[in-house]
Amino acid sequence: MTKNMTIHIGPITLDEPVLLSPMAGVTDLPFRRLVKSFGAGLVTSEMIASQAMIRDHKRTHMMAYAESDEYLMSVQLAGCDPEMMALAARMNEDRGAAIIDINMGCPAKKIVGGYAGSALMQDIGEARRILAAVVRAVQIPVTLKMRTGWDISSRNAPELAHVAENEGIKMVTVHGRTRNQMYKGKSDWHFIHEVRDRISIPLIANGDILTCEDAAEALRQSGADGVMIGRGAYGRPWFLSQVIHYLKHGEKLPDPDLAELKQIVLDHYQAMLDHYGEEAGKKIARKHISWYTKGLRDSAVFRQQVNRLGDVGQVRAMINDFFDPLIRERAA
Ligand SMILES: Cc1cc2nc3c(=O)[nH]c(=O)nc-3n(C[C@H](O)[C@H](O)[C@H](O)COP(=O)(O)O)c2cc1C
Repeated sequence: MTKNMTIHIGPITLDEPVLLSPMAGVTDLPFRRLVKSFGAGLVTSEMIASQAMIRDHKRTHMMAYAESDEYLMSVQLAGCDPEMMALAARMNEDRGAAIIDINMGCPAKKIVGGYAGSALMQDIGEARRILAAVVRAVQIPVTLKMRTGWDISSRNAPELAHVAENEGIKMVTVHGRTRNQMYKGKSDWHFIHEVRDRISIPLIANGDILTCEDAAEALRQSGADGVMIGRGAYGRPWFLSQVIHYLKHGEKLPDPDLAELKQIVLDHYQAMLDHYGEEAGKKIARKHISWYTKGLRDSAVFRQQVNRLGDVGQVRAMINDFFDPLIRERAA
């Protein structure tokens, strides 16, 4: 039996209930485009500091850069000043963003110190002012991403989500950890159900979804309409499409074979060089190459060596030299 699990974010319909997490330093244009090419309900930019956007930092604009093939691109904003957030939202709307996502989940010190990210969960009044200002500033839908609360004794995600819906927010994503947990412990999908009970807009469950079964279980425990996947897509840009298929049909699609994987790595490498230029691109590519090869035979040695190379031709040759014997062996 095929299940229909579309999600409505204001006037926008997501055909698939599986979303890519915004991840600073990871979900850049080449990675978003790759994940989207396999299949994903929605991809989101890396977090954009609204202040930097307004000051016209080149790198910030590059992070929010939308292409016409990313017709369903959500741009995530962080900040603590309602007027600045509103202005940055308008700028992104003008530049083609389909959705603005507000970050109230980031635990990083830099952001929290600036009283943005998850620090806003400690001050619902201030959070409300930001939500209202951004919603008023744009025509496109505005969504909110948060944690369960600041710490275990103040898990106020249900209250904040309720406030957000009243202010016109069209979807809420909850990472099932508190700010103080950072990335420790387990994402509490069950707690997310308390948010479900307070809102009627779409709810997305996030945190620790590493397998297709995790996705189904997170949906069951949280009562959410969809899931968001971050680290589970490291080195597996096809993972979201497997989750989509599993949720719809109850069956698991195989991973790409090694020859397909090699081509994905080479194409992704080229896309990063094209996007950032050779100097920056080859450095940014290192973590992706490491993730792609994790668990394969002799990959630790390969990673050590490939990450030392400065010449992109040599990197490509080494990727071929690493994969080709494995491909031949599997075929034999
Ligand atoms: C490297 C990294 C960067 C992240 N950057 C952002 C960000 O820019 N905005 C955001 O809302 N969350 C960010 N997050 C949090 C993720 O979106 C997600 O909520 C969290 O990793 C839990 O989901 P996961 O277990 O599927 O990775 C980041 C997480 C990681 C690991």
